[in-house]
Amino acid sequence: MLKLPGLIDPHVHLREPGATHKEDYDSGTASALAGGVTTVLAMPNTKPPIFDEVTLGEVLATAKTKARCDYAQYLGAGPDNAAEVARLAPTAAALKMYLDSTFGELRLDDMTLWMEHFRLWPGKTPIVTHSESRSMAAAIWMAQMFDKPIHIAHISLREEILLIKEAKRRGIKVTCEVCPHHLFLAENGIPLAPAGCFCCSDGLPGGRAEVRPRLAAKADVDALWENMAYIDCFATDHAPHTLGEKDSENPPPGFPGMETLLPLLLTAVSESRLTIDDIIQKSVINPRKIFKLPEQPETWVEVDEDARYEIRASEMHSRCGWTPFEGWQVKGRVTRVVLRGQEAYRDGKILAGPGFGQNVRA
Ligand code: NCD
Ligand code: ZN
Repeated sequence: MLKLPGLIDPHVHLREPGATHKEDYDSGTASALAGGVTTVLAMPNTKPPIFDEVTLGEVLATAKTKARCDYAQYLGAGPDNAAEVARLAPTAAALKMYLDSTFGELRLDDMTLWMEHFRLWPGKTPIVTHSESRSMAAAIWMAQMFDKPIHIAHISLREEILLIKEAKRRGIKVTCEVCPHHLFLAENGIPLAPAGCFCCSDGLPGGRAEVRPRLAAKADVDALWENMAYIDCFATDHAPHTLGEKDSENPPPGFPGMETLLPLLLTAVSESRLTIDDIIQKSVINPRKIFKLPEQPETWVEVDEDARYEIRASEMHSRCGWTPFEGWQVKGRVTRVVLRGQEAYRDGKILAGPGFGQNVRA
């Protein structure tokens, strides 16, 4: 039996408020615990978005009664809320800026709007950007201009990791995260790991492969693995949509991810592509440091490193009911999670009740 610290997932979508048929603070934090995640940072692209004192207050009141693991809530950068979110900064996970198109309404095109946020955000926690390719370069430059820490969400391209590597070498305050799906899947959902099942070697059908940033070419995936040393965090970008929505005419982008995170990473450890220390650094130590999160006393995750099994959405706790990794053969299972001294998960059962989770910014 292997014992790990409770994992931190700095990028999850809990769909509260506005789309609780996909997920809510209850089912999403149950999914977290089943994955060995004991702290989640929840994104603000909800309906309405979380972008002022009222919307933040409402979602935190809901979270207080529903969350089963610890959490903090992001604020979203809008066209005219830079002063207000800056004032609310100590009560939020961090600030999220959407600079490229994705699910939800929060997108800032005009760079003068980015500038107000970079100017006013206090900077104890980073500005987290959804910024791909050249908008990433522009965002890093703006962060440097205003001397604010920036964290790049879900990097997927070779050019992105190479630019970040160079920026870090030059002392620029930039950190980044990568998602398991950008490490284990290529364009169209083609599996790039031995664990991938044969029936999906043609990729994922239609809308099920849709995610932002898009799944990339094998050369991009290879560059992420080769530059693993410059990647600060693993983040799932857990973005649940129902199977009906994914298979519809107009499929929304996004994959669920918290319950497949450790099985995929542990399988990579068993294949000597990663080490346990990589998992601890990128899923515990670095996110705690970057997002200024408190220690969780008496908190750990027990893992059966030798358990071999097939990934099955039917065994998961997320409300979305599917996974892009269905049928993958993995090695390594989360068997038990203890959170602040209480058994929170054991052998498929969620034992922490709604409301047990604490707001780490309260
Ligand atoms: C996310 C979602 O569904 O909220 N979708 C996605 O493809 N990643 C939005 C996002 O994180 O960009
Ligand atoms: Zn996201």
